[in-house]
Amino acid sequence: MNVRDSEAVAAMLEAAGHERAASEQDAELVIVNSCTVRDMAERKAVGKCGNLIALKEGRGRAARSAGGAVKVVGLIGCAVKRLGDEVFSRLPGLDFAAGPRRMGMVPRLVERALAGETRILELPDDDEVPAGLDAHLASGGAAGPSPFQSYVTVLLGCDNRCSYCIVPDVRGHEYSRPAREVVAEVRSLAANGVKEVCLLGQSVLRYGRRTPAWSEADPPSPGGFFEPFPRLLEALDAIPGLERVRFTSAHPGGCTDELVRAFQTLPSVCRHIHLPVQSGSDRVLREMGRRYTRAEYLAAVAKLRAMDPEFAVTTDVIVGYPGETEEDFEQTRSLMDEAGFDNAFVFKYSPRPGTRAAALPDDVPEEEKERRDQVLLADQQRRGLERNGRLVGTVREVLAEGPSLRNAARWSGRDSGNRIVVFEPEGRVGRGELARVAIREAHAQTLVGALA
Ligand code: 5AD
Ligand code: SF4
Repeated sequence: MNVRDSEAVAAMLEAAGHERAASEQDAELVIVNSCTVRDMAERKAVGKCGNLIALKEGRGRAARSAGGAVKVVGLIGCAVKRLGDEVFSRLPGLDFAAGPRRMGMVPRLVERALAGETRILELPDDDEVPAGLDAHLASGGAAGPSPFQSYVTVLLGCDNRCSYCIVPDVRGHEYSRPAREVVAEVRSLAANGVKEVCLLGQSVLRYGRRTPAWSEADPPSPGGFFEPFPRLLEALDAIPGLERVRFTSAHPGGCTDELVRAFQTLPSVCRHIHLPVQSGSDRVLREMGRRYTRAEYLAAVAKLRAMDPEFAVTTDVIVGYPGETEEDFEQTRSLMDEAGFDNAFVFKYSPRPGTRAAALPDDVPEEEKERRDQVLLADQQRRGLERNGRLVGTVREVLAEGPSLRNAARWSGRDSGNRIVVFEPEGRVGRGELARVAIREAHAQTLVGALA
């Protein structure tokens, strides 16, 4: 989500006549886009900003050795909204700060900062609709995954209020962009060579629920979809030139029969869902306010796998939530096995000010959080290997991205399930093209094969 917001800001700055610098050292303007979902993320963003300000003011080792062209430093994103005025006591030399739904104002703030104003603060209201949501860099550019892949924001904010989560406080209420706007944006991306879009929202299956997405003036759904999100997938599937549609993140509550039908009948919709589970213990899930039980979660996974046994399911898990016992943790372990996740991101619980959980004692010691983290990662390593092993001998359709990081002779790309596939292009496949790859070898995080 922040990668996408950064791209939009960069595109707006380009449109305002600014040019991209070759490196941070050459830049006259540097903007840090922050995240506050965990304490460490916020510290990193604020720390980075502090270093840039030191560079601007000619202080510190970096400034003495490199010189540094920096004239203006800005901070944007979630940490700004959380810190409010405090941002300037933490970062006295900061020129401007703008919260998540004010990113459209950044070009104007830069102008004001260049004219000599300092300490400009823009804090969004919870229901604000930002400008610039559809701004994209012509090149896809460094801010996007590649020139033929693009992120598209469809849903802002979140109203779920999970007990541990600061997102609703900083990103505001849910707002769904009108479907017509999203379709126009994706159509224009596809016309410019984009083959794959990933639709973004904190809880993207809530699209069109709190605020309307479709209007009576829109043409009816050819496939008879009534639910706003599956209907959006159908409209995007029909766009010429667009090969793939992905989305993230999902909630089991949104895994309806219509969503399953969308996966089954719309060829460009990728067979992958990122479905954060957070915990496998019903007690913890209730405390977190996740609004599903372990059984309901597993039923959602089973429904998707019944349609396609290779359907990829990935997740987020929190270890060390207040009061999480060894037994709760073992429930998470067993759920992860039963769900057969293709990949998992594990986070150590981090208390966030103002959330319900912050009032509870953070009583799982750091070493124990670390141990649980490592146990889940080792489990996932084994599980990933086992699940990927089942794909040896199959042929995957891969969107070729280009030379892999480790070995330039080999290329990498992703299959519909978002699995990384490594292969040799043999001069027959170009970047951004679909290739059919026969899988020969499986690792926990990658598949290796040859053109079929
Ligand atoms: N502590 C740890 N992890 C968190 N997440 C959200 N809030 C917290 C927190 N306070 C994790 C959740 C979410 C992911 C984006 O970040 O797992 O799905
Ligand atoms: Fe946070 Fe829960 Fe909303 Fe996800 S669904 S952003 S975890 S409040």
